[in-house]
Amino acid sequence: MQPAKTTLARFSPIEKSLRTVRAANLWDYEAMCRHFSWDQLRADLFDRSDDKMNIAMVAIDGHAKLTPNKPAVRFVDAEFTRTELTYGELLRSANRFANLLRLVAIEPGAVVASLLGRCPELYSTVLGTLKCGAIFAPLFAAFGPEPIRSRLELAGARVLVTTQHLYERKVAPIRSTLPTLRHIFIVREVAEGELPHGTQDLTQAMSGLSETFETVPLSADTPALLHFTSGTTGKPKGVVHVHDAIVAHHASARLALDLHPQDVFWCTADPGWVTGISYGVLAPLSCGVTLLVDREELDVERWYRLLAENEVNVWYTAPTAIRMLMKAGLEPVKRHTYPALRLIASVGEPLNPEAVMWGMGAFGMPVHDTWWQTETGAIMIANFLSQTVWPGAMGRPMPGVHAEIGRRRDDGTVEILAPNEVGEIVLRPGWPSMFSGYLNNEQRYQESFTNGWYFSGDQAYRDEHGYFWFIGRTDDVIKSSGHLISPFEVECALNLHPAVMQSAVIGLPDPVAGQVVQAIVELRPDYAGDDELRRSIMAHARRSLGAAIAPRGIDFVVSLPRTRSGKIMRRLLRVRALGLPEGDLSTLEPSA
Ligand code: WT7
Repeated sequence: MQPAKTTLARFSPIEKSLRTVRAANLWDYEAMCRHFSWDQLRADLFDRSDDKMNIAMVAIDGHAKLTPNKPAVRFVDAEFTRTELTYGELLRSANRFANLLRLVAIEPGAVVASLLGRCPELYSTVLGTLKCGAIFAPLFAAFGPEPIRSRLELAGARVLVTTQHLYERKVAPIRSTLPTLRHIFIVREVAEGELPHGTQDLTQAMSGLSETFETVPLSADTPALLHFTSGTTGKPKGVVHVHDAIVAHHASARLALDLHPQDVFWCTADPGWVTGISYGVLAPLSCGVTLLVDREELDVERWYRLLAENEVNVWYTAPTAIRMLMKAGLEPVKRHTYPALRLIASVGEPLNPEAVMWGMGAFGMPVHDTWWQTETGAIMIANFLSQTVWPGAMGRPMPGVHAEIGRRRDDGTVEILAPNEVGEIVLRPGWPSMFSGYLNNEQRYQESFTNGWYFSGDQAYRDEHGYFWFIGRTDDVIKSSGHLISPFEVECALNLHPAVMQSAVIGLPDPVAGQVVQAIVELRPDYAGDDELRRSIMAHARRSLGAAIAPRGIDFVVSLPRTRSGKIMRRLLRVRALGLPEGDLSTLEPSA
């Protein structure tokens, strides 16, 4: 199949100046690809002869020794007041958290979860957990109790670090269903009254503990991080990454995000997701930069002021955020100047060419798209600072990454497709941050690979210049504001409402969020599909799932379309919702 190229390549390529090329970490793409070696980089990063490592050695220990007084994280609060944490201070608080885990007998390999916003304790929790060999698992604070429960259960988490507010709203109602969860540490910002029963104050628990801790050296394949992601069916998937992942975090931060040690770097992703940990904590710290951390949510005027006042050099954000900025027009951006800004990058969902071009008008530089997934652990495809940008293209593979467009043949082999042919993005295993498994689901892990290739589930094509162009997903997952949402998880929650017989959940296009969640509901007899019931179901969904994944709209139908085997045809519902021709129904695969 040939892609409709005319719809994508609407703008001319953006060439880079010789000055930009010369100053970039990666300035000759082809040469870098030829000479790049993961083994060499690993040897450079871990100056040890015993093959033992730990992410924390690269992310904190080394810098704390060499540049203890350099700011590692700069927090900015609602009033634009800055608080800085140096590499030395961050090391000491991480050490105390590691000692606390020791004290409460957390063994290497146990899971420590966090349900936190961007607070100082997040950083010491991540690093302290890794230092003592436990596995760090972040949860998203905008989830409701049910998604939090299913993820903590899947992880078998032993420890949770959260705030009193989040605990009371989201964890207390489900605590009794989680017998393995032994310790809950509460980050208290203000006097919030009595601590909830069965929890401990984190500051108090750490007080008096030693500020030194010898980071546990581990083999490269020891699990370090657990991220949750969504598929079409079934429960959330727990994606496991090993300590070796830091080699890919570091390489991509240097080459794709062009981080230099003197940089101020701002990653806007929430720390409840893989981007917020890989590029909001670990990769940039491994480069020794200063991280900018905004404690507030997206606000157009605030963001431009933050970029300007903090002299941000590299900014990693997401298409939804960029489209929200675009909506406000160019006037607010022009109130400041940004002489320090060198690179704007984006990830998580399709970056439309207009958004790439907006960067030219607003900042005099394009937005550089990057592509990766929770499973890949780090950036796999990128528009590099020194390289030509084709607005609408995701870029070219990272040095050390072998990406192709492939297709599974019926005989179990893989056909690698020629330029401009549409297929699935496939990757040759061997990069250090490739996931090492789906927790408790070896079969699903094996199914991700065919004949030595990892199949990403993303459709794309590669042009004659070697640039990848995104087409769509091969499954039914929904991408809303960059968050991957499982229709199944939302349907399960909806089906628990007393009026709901069955539901189907689809993604509808949205100019800012990319997609929004829409539910189609078949009611039980005796219920009338009126506005009151719609409000009741919406409120139920929001309570259970949280605002981030609850449906934006609900339609009632007499009966949902099903295949002969009884599976609901989400694709048909999507076609109908969009008013597209239904075509030959026999070709619509069931997708439940
Ligand atoms: C899915 C992965 C990316 C890390 C955080 C989210 C979509 C990602 C792009 C892009 C078009 C993109 C893909 C991918 N996606 N980047 N540049 N252009 N789509 O990780 O939640 O696992 O989502 O996000 O569909 O498979 P994730």
